Formats: sequence, structure tokens, C-alpha cells
Amino acid sequence: MNSEYDVAGKTAVVTGAASGIGLGIARALARAGMSLVMADVEPAALDGAVDQLRSDGYRAVGVLTDVSDRLQVEALAEAALAEFGAVHVVANNAGVGASGPVEDMSIEEWKWIIDVNLWGVIHGVRTFLPILKRQDEGHITATSSVAGLAGGPMLGAYHTAKHGVVGLMDSVRAELALLGSPVKASVLCPGPVATNVVRSERNRPDDVDRHLVGEPEKRFWSRLTSTLAAGMAPEAVGELVADAVRLERFWILTEPEQHISSVEQRLAEIKADHLERG
Ligand SMILES: NC(=O)c1ccc[n+]([C@@H]2O[C@H](COP(=O)([O-])OP(=O)(O)OC[C@H]3O[C@@H](n4cnc5c(N)ncnc54)[C@H](O)[C@@H]3O)[C@@H](O)[C@H]2O)c1
Repeated sequence: MNSEYDVAGKTAVVTGAASGIGLGIARALARAGMSLVMADVEPAALDGAVDQLRSDGYRAVGVLTDVSDRLQVEALAEAALAEFGAVHVVANNAGVGASGPVEDMSIEEWKWIIDVNLWGVIHGVRTFLPILKRQDEGHITATSSVAGLAGGPMLGAYHTAKHGVVGLMDSVRAELALLGSPVKASVLCPGPVATNVVRSERNRPDDVDRHLVGEPEKRFWSRLTSTLAAGMAPEAVGELVADAVRLERFWILTEPEQHISSVEQRLAEIKADHLERG
């Protein structure tokens, strides 16, 4: 039987906590009795999110952080330790979405997507994992996506980053197991969730110009926007993460049957290419 991790009275750091899934995770961990350090790049939204938690009676502080900047992530850890004395759960969740055929997206656009979605998690892991390991306790999670489990058109940079997050967290899990560490890792792979991710353009840095968007991409984005609007509530995703932390589960899937079948499809293709050809 798996053991359970009791987080009540402990401290969590959540990035991208001002909106959507990050706010859902922060609220779920607060409900589980944790103090929250909420990090985000958007100051007004962050203040609003922190106020929301505090007015519901939870302990929360906000730390303005751009996760693509290593020094800012290190400053986030220092701020969390200064405020609460320890960090036990870390959710590397901040992310941005942008579409574009792989060869049309500019190098700056590729860099933006990889910097936030993948380097943001790398910085989080490199900064917080040593803290958790030193105290021999804790859980580190990161938000990937179904886009981290299978490929697809028009989101090549995003798929690349999200596959990287799955690979990274699987490596973290393997290294913790090798050491026999009680620290646990997990990876969240959501399907559609009704959040502001389709408005990620609000976070696009001024110096990252947008490529010329053609009709197929416009149609793709409009379909994606409708699919996400009808997606799962971020609060429900937050509860899945809180459950995974408590139950020490690695994979966190929002619609397991559907996502497992995408992975099985990939496996079937590998088998078809290698085992079934004469
Ligand atoms: N919504 C979905 O359907 C869906 C599906 C799969 C994965 N995801 C992933 O979930 C995570 C959360 O996204 P969401 O859907 O809640 O979108 P969201 O836009 O509602 O929230 C993302 C948050 O990250 C913040 N952020 C953006 N760039 C940042 C940076 N450089 N540093 C710090 N914070 C930054 C934003 O300000 C925002 O508050 C992302 O990693 C996203 O890729 C979302």
C-alpha cells in the first residue's frame, strides 16, 4: 500500500499562480492546510489572486517572478524560505501557449515558448530540489500537457517544451528513487482546461515579434479556443494535483482514458514501424 503525505501546516510554492491551473493548484493546496507562496509575472493578477486566498482565510504571499530568469527563481526560493522557513511542495506550473507551423515561428518565438515552459521548470527543479532533498521531505511537480505525451500540428514549440517537461520530471523521479530519497516528483498532463492560456499573448515580451499567421493556423487557434473554453475547471485540476501530492503519484492526467489512448497510439506506431514490418 502507498504511504500518504500529510501537507497540513506546510508550505507550497506555485508558479503561474495568478490565473487558471496555477490558481487552482494554490487554492487546493491551501484547502489542504498549506501556506502559499504564489509566483507570477503579472503583478496586478498576482495581487488579486493573493488577496482572494487571504480573504478566504488562507496564508498566502505573492512574489513577482519571471520563471525564465534563473536569478528570479532563486530569489523566489529565498523569499519563500524567509517568509515561512521551509518549502515542502513546489508546483512549477507557469506556462504560455502560442501556435505556429514549426518553420514559420521565429527563433524569438521558439525561445520564448521554450524559455518559459521548459527552462522555467528546469530553473524550478535546479533551485528547489536541493532544498527538498536537504530536508529529506517534499514533493516537486511540474505542469506539462497532453502535448507532452503526443505530437500534433501547429504547436510544435509547445509540444517540444512539454515533452521536455515530461522527460525532465521522469529523470527527477528516477534520480530520487536511485538515492532512496523520500522526496517525490510528479508531472501534470492536462487536456483542455478553461483558463487564460489562449490569451498568453498578454505575456509575450515586447521584443518577440509575431510571425505572419495564415488561415489554417487561424482556424486551428479558433477551434482550440472553443475546445479549451469547454474544458475542465482549473479548480478540479488543482484538486487532482493536491491528491497526487498526498498519494505520492507520479502521473497526473485529467482524462486518463483519453490520454492513455494517445500514448497507446504512439506505442502502436512504434510497434508497426519496428515489429510488424517484414
Ligand atoms: N489550459 C489548458 O488547457 C492547459 C492544458 C495543458 C497544459 N496547460 C499548462 O498549464 C499551465 C498553466 O496554464 P493555464 O492554462 O492555467 O493558463 P493561464 O494563462 O490561465 O495561467 C498561466 C499563468 O502563468 C503566468 N506566466 C506566464 N509567463 C510567465 C513567466 N515567464 N513567469 C511566471 N509566470 C508566468 C501567467 O501570467 C498566468 O498567470 C501552463 O504550463 C500551460 O502550458 C494548460
